[in-house]
This record gives sequence, structure tokens and C-alpha cells, in this order.
Amino acid sequence: MIRKCLFPVAGYGTRFLPATKAMPKEMLPVVNKPLVQYGVEEAAEAGMNRIGFITGRGKRAIADHFDISYELEKEIEGSGKENLLTSIRKLIDENEFAFKRQNHMKGLGHAILSGKYLMGDEPFAVVLADDLCIPAEDGEGVLSQMVKIFNQFRCSVVAVQEVPQEEVHKYGVIAGEEMKDGLFRVTDMVEKPANEDAPSNLAIIGRYILTPDIFDKIKDTPPGKNGEVQITDALLKQAQEGCVLAYKFRGTRFDCGSIDGFVEATNHVYENIFKKG
Ligand code: G1P
Repeated sequence: MIRKCLFPVAGYGTRFLPATKAMPKEMLPVVNKPLVQYGVEEAAEAGMNRIGFITGRGKRAIADHFDISYELEKEIEGSGKENLLTSIRKLIDENEFAFKRQNHMKGLGHAILSGKYLMGDEPFAVVLADDLCIPAEDGEGVLSQMVKIFNQFRCSVVAVQEVPQEEVHKYGVIAGEEMKDGLFRVTDMVEKPANEDAPSNLAIIGRYILTPDIFDKIKDTPPGKNGEVQITDALLKQAQEGCVLAYKFRGTRFDCGSIDGFVEATNHVYENIFKKG
């Protein structure tokens, strides 16, 4: 059973400036819901109800979002607009939220290590809210699919998708032996390789299930790509000493860390989810 999910949300979101000057990028709305709420809903659907945020300066709006807004609720009581708050109220009622600040921006690995005391000594999930994942036809979210893999194999799992070769430099990329359709045992992993050096075109997207020994691996990981402590490097150690699986998920992922991906996600959610009610 995986109960906990960690959201590293300390990043600056410079690609969206000036929108993100005074507002966390995770609060950008895709139609009428902030990005981070989609991620928390996905975690809740996968059975996780303890949500940890690695946050930073200027990110208080995220904590406010996952808290009741007493004055607002009083104001719209009985006005017919109450149902607009139903989805967030449900999350607030059914989950616990904890926040920890990352004082220095030293990379995703470092952000995850900052969550050691929130996550404790148990397997946990990590969601990068920039990656918006819309479930496949059967409605099963990506994290939920990954939990099933974890329950079977009991080792860390990363979600991957095939990307065009000219885009691999934006991602952590894996090489692996295919154990069964869409499931790979990782043999190599490189953070943002040059397109021509990538071991494959299987790119890691922002969904991970990590076993708690990852924290010691991160501690032993020197800064890598861009001088940052990379989770990809720590996972490679886990893969070499034990096992890490890469799972080609079902569903559609939008890179909402980029303007193009964000606009595509907005159009998709508007047409396929919002308009259909
Ligand atoms: C991070 C990870 C990278 C992964 C990507 C997915 O990079 O370091 O391995 O492929 O998320 O979105 P970032 O996009 O934060 O630079």
C-alpha cells in the first residue's frame, strides 16, 4: 500500500514569466483547476491520502489552496456556485497535507531528499505537477497503474514515454530490458543526454514510485547535469544495486512546463473534459 505522495513545487517557473512572478507556476489554471490539483487528484485516485509538498518562498498560495477559505465559502453559500468548490473540498476532507521548505535550489534529487522526514521509511510516490497526465479510456490514472506494478515487483518505478529523438535532451532517458509489454528493467539512465548520446528515446516523465533507500542513494549522489543533484543519478545506483522498473504508461501526458504543452493541455481539457461536464 502506498499512502504518501511527494510534490516538489519549489521551482521558479521562469518560462511563464511574468505570470509566475508573484504566483506559483503550479497554481496556473488548466481551464478552471490549478495544475497541482490535477496531480493531487491523481494521487488520491491511486489511494494516496498523505500529500507532502516541498515548497519554497513565494509558494504560499499552494497551502492556501489546500485549506478551506472560510470567508469565500460563507459568501457563496446557497448561491448555486458552491458546486464549483466540490472537487477541492473533497480533497481537503479526504487527505492530509504537509509542507516543508527547500531552502536551497539544488535540483530535483535534493528536493526529494528534503522530503525524507515527510515520507518516512516507506515507499512513496513523486509527482511533478508540470506533467499533467490524463487517464486512458479506462479512466485509470498513471500513478494508479504504477502502484499495481510496484505491488507486484516491490522496487522503484518510473513512468516513461517514447519521445522524438530530437527531444530526448529535455528528459531523463532510460535503457532497459523489456520484461513484458511496456515494462522494462532499467540498465542505464542518463539525465538530459545530448540527442545523439541518448541510450533510447524512452523519456522519464514526472511520475515516480520510490523505495525509501533512495534517500541514502541521493545523499551519496554528487551534483550532476547542470550542477544539480539529479534523481536520475540516484535511481541509476538503485538500478545497478537492485532493481528499477520503467513503465510505459497508458494515457496522455502534457508538458505543462512549456507554453506549447500548457496550451495543448488547456485545449484538450476544455474540449474533452470541461465541455462534456
Ligand atoms: C525532471 C527530471 C527529468 C524528467 C523530467 C520530466 O526534469 O530531472 O529526468 O525527464 O523532470 O518532466 P525537469 O523537467 O524538471 O528539468
